[in-house]
Amino acid sequence: MSMTTFIAVANQKGGVGKTSIAAHLACLAHETGKHTLLVDLDQQGSATLLCSGDGAKHRVPPQGTVMDLWDDSVEKLNIRESLFGFDYLQASQELDSVDDDLQAGIRALHKLEDYGYDTIIIDCPPAPGVRQFAPLLIANRQVIPLTADALGTQGLVGVLMQNQKLIQPHNPELDMRMIVNMHKVNSTTQKAVIDQLQGYLGSQLMTQVLTDRELVKQALRMGKPVWSVTREPFGETWRSACEELISFSEDDSDKEVA
Ligand SMILES: Nc1ncnc2c1ncn2[C@@H]1O[C@H](COP(=O)(O)OP(=O)(O)OP(=O)(O)O)[C@@H](O)[C@H]1O
Ligand SMILES: [Mg+2]
Repeated sequence: MSMTTFIAVANQKGGVGKTSIAAHLACLAHETGKHTLLVDLDQQGSATLLCSGDGAKHRVPPQGTVMDLWDDSVEKLNIRESLFGFDYLQASQELDSVDDDLQAGIRALHKLEDYGYDTIIIDCPPAPGVRQFAPLLIANRQVIPLTADALGTQGLVGVLMQNQKLIQPHNPELDMRMIVNMHKVNSTTQKAVIDQLQGYLGSQLMTQVLTDRELVKQALRMGKPVWSVTREPFGETWRSACEELISFSEDDSDKEVA
C-alpha cells in the first residue's frame, strides 16, 4: 500500500497562482511534520526559482532535473532542500519533450512512490497535456486555483469538462478543490462571481478566498509562507485554506460508499 499522498496543483489557465499555492501547500505540509516534496513540472521553472532563489536553474538539460523520472537509467534523483525547508525536484526548460507519451508520464510519476514521502505536491504547467494529465491520473487530489472573473470561470468550465471526460473514468477517486485567488477586496463584480461559483460548485469550492496582496510575492521571495511574515488576518486565511487543502478526512471514503 502506497502511503504517499499526491496533490496536483493544476489549471489550464496561466497566472492564477498555481505555483504560489503549491509552494504554500508544501510549506504547510512541511510545518506539520510531513516529509514533503514539491515537484516542478513546468518548463518555466517558477517553483524551481522559488525553491532555489535562482532564476536560471531550470535552464539546463534533463540530467539532474525532474526529467530523470523519465530516464530508466537514472538510479537516484537529484532531490534538494528548498529555501522553505521542504524538498524539491527541479524543472528543466526541456520538459516539453516528454509531452508526447502519457503512459511514460504516468510511469515516471509513479516512481516517486519509492522515495518515502508523506506528501508530494506537483506544480503543473498552465496547459492541458501530458504534464497535467499524468499528475491528475495518479493524484489523490487536484487543487484548482482560479480567479473570480469571467475568464477565470470560463477556464474552470474547461477544467471540469476535461476532468469528466479524460480523468474521472481512470481516476474516479480524484478529489477536486477549487480556491479563489487574487481576489480584489473592493470589487463587487468579483463578489458576485464568487457567489455564483459557490452556488455552482458547492463544497468543492473552498470557503476561504485568497486576496491579492503584494506580501504574497514578498514572502515567497524570502523563502517563507505568507502566514509567517504577517499577523494580518489574510495570512491566517492562507494558512487555514492550505490546512484544508492538504488534509484528507478519514471518513471521506465512507461517505462515498454510503
Ligand atoms: N494572492 C496573490 N496576491 C498577490 N500576488 C499573487 C497572489 N498569488 C499569486 N501572485 C503573483 O502572481 C504571479 C502569478 O502567480 P503564480 O506564478 O503562482 O501563478 P501560476 O498559475 O503558477 O502561473 P503560470 O500559469 O505561469 O504557471 C506571481 O508573480 C505571483 O507572485
Ligand atoms: Mg506556475
